[in-house]
Amino acid sequence: MKPLNRRNFLQAAGIGLSATFIKTSKSIAKEANWPIVLCSRGEEWGPKVLEPAWELLRRSDNILDAVEAGANVVELDPEDTSVGYGGLPNEQGVVQLDASIMYGPTHNCGAVAALENIKTPSSVARLVMERSDHIYLVGQGAKQFALMHGFKEENLLTDKARIAWLKWKENLSDKDDWFPPADGDYSAEKRPTGTINVLGINSNGEIAGITTTSGLAWKIPGRIGDSPIIGAGLYVDNEVGAAGATGRGEEVIRTLGSFFVVEQMRAGKSPQQACEAACQRIIDINGGADKVDFNDKFVAVNKQGEVGCASILGTKEWQPKLAFINKNGFQVLKGRSLINR
Ligand code: GLY
Repeated sequence: MKPLNRRNFLQAAGIGLSATFIKTSKSIAKEANWPIVLCSRGEEWGPKVLEPAWELLRRSDNILDAVEAGANVVELDPEDTSVGYGGLPNEQGVVQLDASIMYGPTHNCGAVAALENIKTPSSVARLVMERSDHIYLVGQGAKQFALMHGFKEENLLTDKARIAWLKWKENLSDKDDWFPPADGDYSAEKRPTGTINVLGINSNGEIAGITTTSGLAWKIPGRIGDSPIIGAGLYVDNEVGAAGATGRGEEVIRTLGSFFVVEQMRAGKSPQQACEAACQRIIDINGGADKVDFNDKFVAVNKQGEVGCASILGTKEWQPKLAFINKNGFQVLKGRSLINR
């Protein structure tokens, strides 16, 4: 597919950011092109995340700056309890963040895990990629690296997240000294997950992606999910496309899910088919649909700017979505769940 030249891109960039259309993957595939930015959320977060990313692309065409700007929006928003500042903490009430970044043209990547007190882990991951010879920095080492580069040490535990954690703790057992809260929210069975993937292609066809999260709520301190693992929570290959995962990280690590999606696209599948294949792989290794009581979701974009999105579990009320902005404006894609209950 022919890329937009710079002038066309600048004209296209102003088109219809505020208009929201919901379409099927088939109709979108025919129209899509790059530049494009997409994220693993729908109508509510999509514009908030993607409009700054698109604006940066319009101004500089720098795809790393664009995906970072999108990821930073959620990381800095205390209302989101699954990413960055305001994320739900581990079992000791400490917020530990994971993030990764990958740049298609060079295959360069960087990641941080179990990072404490720094609001924007994806920006630290980018520095690991650009300012060191390493790929992973974790825990204290990641924090020291961030501080060295001028990041501020801050409290990441908001009152909203602290109260949720306290309720979980009080509900854990009726044999300890903690009384349950009156409303019973956040019982031991409810373990919220969130995460966001931001992927994009600039007008030169350069692909990049970020995955960022506060990980599984109430996790054992030090637990690292799929988000910072290159190939699991994120993978980018400039010849093929990019993919990201959200949901139960252990399953995505066991299947190297995002790498699997990209390799399925390399073998000729559409992004939609590739995301569904990754979900099916997780169902299969768990022994079939009856054995699955967790969810994972994949989003993907191929080199042509076509997008896809699938999850393992869906309900009448919830189906997977992604949002994107390309020359046609802002759109939401409804994906497909393999198991509907
Ligand atoms: N997918 C996020 C996590 O499991 O940590």
